[in-house]
Amino acid sequence: MAATMEPKLALYLRSAEHACTFKVAVRPGKRVEAILRAFAQRYRDDADALTLVAPSGCLLGGSDRVGDVLADGDVLDVVREEVLPVPGADDYAARAGAAADAVAAAADAVAANTYATARRGESDFEKWMATYADGPLVHKVAHYFDVYERHFSRFRGRRVVMLEIGVQSGGSIELWRAYFGDDLEYHGVDINPNCAQFDDPARNVHVHVGDATDANFMQALARRVGPVDVVLDDGSHESAHMRASFEALYALVAPRGVYLVEDCMTNYWRPWGGGVGADTFIEFAKRLVDSLNAFNVADGAEGYTDPTNPPTRYDDVATMPDAPAVRFAASTWSLCFYDGVVVFERMPRTHFKHIRRGNRSIPYD
Ligand SMILES: C[S@@+](CC[C@H](N)C(=O)[O-])C[C@H]1O[C@@H](n2cnc3c(N)ncnc32)[C@H](O)[C@@H]1O
Repeated sequence: MAATMEPKLALYLRSAEHACTFKVAVRPGKRVEAILRAFAQRYRDDADALTLVAPSGCLLGGSDRVGDVLADGDVLDVVREEVLPVPGADDYAARAGAAADAVAAAADAVAANTYATARRGESDFEKWMATYADGPLVHKVAHYFDVYERHFSRFRGRRVVMLEIGVQSGGSIELWRAYFGDDLEYHGVDINPNCAQFDDPARNVHVHVGDATDANFMQALARRVGPVDVVLDDGSHESAHMRASFEALYALVAPRGVYLVEDCMTNYWRPWGGGVGADTFIEFAKRLVDSLNAFNVADGAEGYTDPTNPPTRYDDVATMPDAPAVRFAASTWSLCFYDGVVVFERMPRTHFKHIRRGNRSIPYD
């Protein structure tokens, strides 16, 4: 492979969250950002691919895999760069070159995919990201912007209370302030006490240090600052944590509010206990589709077959049984599943009613 004979750049990548350093050899001239993304995506849980990288200088210990220590959303800073010597044509160099090529190819694929799936550069989010350079770091997945736009745009320019789980470096505070406007009341929750430095009441930015899985803490906070219009879970990305926060908070979100859980890709990754059918937040959310239909589950076919809209016990919240599924149905308009994201839109609801107009019909077969 031609690349093995060229000098390579060694990037030392530091994971702030896990205080460890990765080193990866890449060809000069490739976009660092794309390489980092490709690196994170490709080697997170692919032990075989990682053995290709290791000879070129990955600093992980023998039993460590990148996937065991690298979480989505981690901040990977390039802390040092060096030009590696031109390798010889031995096995070592060949494998190092193959690894570099694989990383570069993955970077290209990621970039191509990004262009294909997003209206690149068109949304206010992307325009803001394109010009934002000097400030606290924010790390987002490109296709999330369309999801945010679909579910958050109705809150723009008006007073909105947002609760974000996961503050980290504080960059998303700037993103949300720019997007929602000056009337945003931002509340961030982070378990890391260092995040308290981003508390800025003068700008209506409030950072609360605590554990987002602690129901008492989260409910006390939501009651104190609520009703919360927008919840964004960008915390640990652990399924059990996502679920604990959701179960603590969901009922306290404003009646027309939205609850968005991102980075659910972890729900499919082995190092996070993920996989199709595993005990994940996504599986939990799938089951809530049945709760969304709780009135229909209880009602059978009668409500549909009688177009005169006979009264049911699901016409009024006061007469509904006090069961979790019914409470969910009565307060939820929709669940939306995207790649790596689940969104719950809240809305007070009762049993469906028929509307029939027009005077000509043919019988059902
Ligand atoms: C992905 S980062 C947040 C990134 C930030 N929202 C942004 O867009 O720049 C995840 C954050 O969640 C925090 N975190 C992890 N587990 C947590 C928990 N149980 N409760 C609260 N915060 C937690 C971490 O300390 C970290 O700062």
